[in-house]
Amino acid sequence: MALYFLLVLFIFGSARAQSNPPSTIRLGSSLHPTGQSVAWYSASGHFAFGFYPQGSGYKVGIWLVGGSNNTIVWTVSRDDPEISADSTLAFIDGIVVLKTNNSEDKTVASSSESASYANLLDNGNFVLYNQDHETIYESFSFPTDTILGGQKLTSGGKLVSSFSSTNHSSGRFRLWMQDDGNLVAYPRNLFRPVDAYWSSQMYCDGCRNLLLLNSTGILFLINDTDSSVLRQLYTPLVQNNRAIYRATLDYDGNFRLYSHEFNSNGNSKMVMEWEAIDDICLVKGFCGLNGYCVGSNHNASSCMCLPGSYLRENDPSFGDCQRNFTRGKCINGKEDVSVYKITTTTNLTWEDPPYFVTSLLGKEDCGKSCLEDCDCDAALFDETGQCMKHKLPLRYVKGAPEGSRTAYFKVSNLAVQNPTTDSVKPPWVVILVLSISFVMYSGTALAFSGFYVFKFRIIKYRKLLQTGTTGLTKDFILKTCSYKELKQATDGFKEELGKGAFGAVYKGSFDKGKNLVAVKRLEKVVEEGEREFRAEMKVIGRTRHRNLIRLLGYCAEGSKRALVYEYMSNGCLANLLFRGATRPDWNLRVNIALDVARGILYLHEECEAPIIHCDIKPQNILLDELLTAKISDFGLAKLLMPDQTRTFTGVRGTRGYLAPEWQTNAPISVKVDVFSYGIVLLEIICCRRNIEVCVTKIEEIQLSIWAYSCLVEGEVDKLVGSEEVDKKTLEGMISVAIWCIQDEPALRPSMKKVLHMLQGIIDIPIPPCPSPSS
Ligand SMILES: *[C@@H]1O[C@H](CO)[C@@H](O)[C@H](O)[C@H]1NC(C)=O
Ligand SMILES: *[C@@H]1O[C@H](CO)[C@@H](O)[C@H](O)[C@H]1NC(C)=O
Ligand SMILES: *[C@@H]1O[C@H](CO)[C@@H](O)[C@H](O)[C@H]1NC(C)=O
Ligand SMILES: *[C@@H]1O[C@H](CO)[C@@H](O)[C@H](O)[C@H]1NC(C)=O
Ligand SMILES: *[C@@H]1O[C@H](CO)[C@@H](O)[C@H](O)[C@H]1NC(C)=O
Ligand SMILES: *[C@@H]1O[C@H](CO)[C@@H](O)[C@H](O)[C@H]1NC(C)=O
Ligand SMILES: *[C@@H]1O[C@H](CO)[C@@H](O)[C@H](O)[C@H]1NC(C)=O
Ligand SMILES: *[C@@H]1O[C@H](CO)[C@@H](O)[C@H](O)[C@H]1NC(C)=O
Repeated sequence: MALYFLLVLFIFGSARAQSNPPSTIRLGSSLHPTGQSVAWYSASGHFAFGFYPQGSGYKVGIWLVGGSNNTIVWTVSRDDPEISADSTLAFIDGIVVLKTNNSEDKTVASSSESASYANLLDNGNFVLYNQDHETIYESFSFPTDTILGGQKLTSGGKLVSSFSSTNHSSGRFRLWMQDDGNLVAYPRNLFRPVDAYWSSQMYCDGCRNLLLLNSTGILFLINDTDSSVLRQLYTPLVQNNRAIYRATLDYDGNFRLYSHEFNSNGNSKMVMEWEAIDDICLVKGFCGLNGYCVGSNHNASSCMCLPGSYLRENDPSFGDCQRNFTRGKCINGKEDVSVYKITTTTNLTWEDPPYFVTSLLGKEDCGKSCLEDCDCDAALFDETGQCMKHKLPLRYVKGAPEGSRTAYFKVSNLAVQNPTTDSVKPPWVVILVLSISFVMYSGTALAFSGFYVFKFRIIKYRKLLQTGTTGLTKDFILKTCSYKELKQATDGFKEELGKGAFGAVYKGSFDKGKNLVAVKRLEKVVEEGEREFRAEMKVIGRTRHRNLIRLLGYCAEGSKRALVYEYMSNGCLANLLFRGATRPDWNLRVNIALDVARGILYLHEECEAPIIHCDIKPQNILLDELLTAKISDFGLAKLLMPDQTRTFTGVRGTRGYLAPEWQTNAPISVKVDVFSYGIVLLEIICCRRNIEVCVTKIEEIQLSIWAYSCLVEGEVDKLVGSEEVDKKTLEGMISVAIWCIQDEPALRPSMKKVLHMLQGIIDIPIPPCPSPSS
């Protein structure tokens, strides 16, 4: 080695006078952005390390020399501001350091050992050596957007694309050699499975792989443990020993392999050998937010804005589109449908996670449901009959074969408003809408409706009701019914108790008003057959608990379904907490919190087939005449088989109460209910909604965040205003709630533990910050 080094020194010592610049860099050497020594060169002269111009200043990095433009392959501190012309890059005191006139010296290359000399190798690797000629630093260990021949991307490493072809600051895309052995491309620092747009399809539990480009241009995926080759991503057709290869995550998100061939006068020819993605429109995030890509090849791909949006002027981001109208306020939870309309497109689709999915709505109703839902900006009705509702921004919209899916976008109605047409609603329509929604929301807010014909065997049903709750056999618990009898019982579906996104619940009675019931009409159930429905109803019918609403009967005729529940005279918890003139008594609230916890615990752990509710919220918690809280709507959650915890897909639930794993494709478990319970618990304690816009201080807008900061600062009494509550009890309840709303499902306690903590049976540890990442 030493001999070789001396030889190298000798060669380059004598090569000074020749065309090739010297490659060994001695202590004391320095570079300046302007002037003679701008860079250190490799022996071949093909690579340079030093200052290159960017914007109005300079950057330090390594580039391929020649061609019409230099190709930057590595940049130091790429996100720092550009360097001014009077800076110096110096190799002194055993390190390479950048001296600028306005800030402290910045270390560019160093090691725990002091370097004796440095070299820019012919493969583009900048290396520091100690006095024993051992490598103590190499730039190959810190790739930016490129790996060169001989360089690898080790397990856990990432390539980060450049901002643009001329700006080498960090851009939008990441190529991650994941710890599971898979090489995966993601946009914009989002690393959920739904964000990935390309992968090597090579993964296993606990695998550690690395990506290697060897100097002959072969791109390998290699097992880091035993160095066996797992896959060749690309092999050049002809072996070309004179070419320099590089694999770059380009600024447009595509991962490409290039060869650069140099001729004798130092000019180079660049050829793109391979690219990971043929159709640039498949790069997620290629277009900005609310944009979509058209054209199926990169010669002719461009980005368009979704209906009702336009490209931001002086775009500071990446071609993001924004709405060309402002969303108004939600009135009593209902959208003002006179100012919006829905436009329909049949050739767009997207994969963003929806906030709500249902298969209970038909195609037309999907758009209508979006129009009426304040949270909804766009909806997608897919070929399997699922209606998925979304909020903007949409990230991953792309073209789809005409007609397979229907996309709905909520757009402003005002541009087409014209006083002479019927698109202008007279004021009374608005007033009617307002008063109807008031009625809907002042009743028991149960959801679901339909306009179907039902059958009802009233005699049996009457028998059931007369028998009361004692001595019923399992078979006798649930009865089937017909439309006619339901109509009779509800007096022609006269009194609506509540209405949600899917329909309505009606008040009904049997035996001349002696037995009150609530009848919930479900819209058609597309996927589930009658037998499965009956089976599910049986399971629900068997769930008997003081804190669960009793299902008394049901109707199932083809796709037409209705459920008959016991009637709750005191409405829902949401009304009690948020609508009353005065706060309900503290002890009542504590009892309600305990009741709800008991009900969920029963669903999770104590009934025959465990059930994940998926939609715990104050609207689904009803109060009987004694103000006992009972959970409703658990019937519609899928049954949880012990081995099904990971296969539960499709987002149910309500924004604001949704656990983060609904958004991340992580497995769904009973812990999603624990999360929702935590939010509900905070709302019970504070008698306000989790999100409240009309508050005096901005930090109070989101209750879950405010509550945690109050807890940390020892000021929990702020949360209950002037109410007099024992501070220790209050702190305990807030702590339990904060435990429940941890981002990490594993950190959330089980419902049994929650109940025990609330009852003071076990101690309550100090909770960590619920979302440590934000
Ligand atoms: C390069 O991109 C970064 C990141 O957006 C930006 O801050 C910087 O101003 C850009 N530089 C030039 C010269 O455009
Ligand atoms: C070289 O850079 C200029 C401006 O930065 C650009 O217009 C030109 O297309 C580039 N040429 C090649 C071959 O990339
Ligand atoms: C630093 O460099 C800038 C740009 O070259 C120059 O305008 C400024 O006067 C310098 N500051 C000092 C303290 O030398
Ligand atoms: C590159 O990989 C190929 C296939 O494994 C191998 O034959 C070749 O020797 C390698 N080249 C170098 C320079 O390591
Ligand atoms: C990588 O090598 C280790 C050790 O030989 C082996 O256990 C593992 O299964 C290999 N991984 C793959 C993906 O082949
Ligand atoms: C796209 O470019 C390639 C190569 O430049 C060319 O062969 C192809 O015909 C082009 N496609 C279109 C649709 O222009
Ligand atoms: C918004 O943009 C759409 C086209 O995308 C246009 O038809 C409509 O008039 C615009 N509305 C407003 C309020 O500018
Ligand atoms: C969808 O169809 C419309 C009208 O037919 C057309 O203008 C638009 O370009 C199409 N979009 C895509 C992504 O194919």
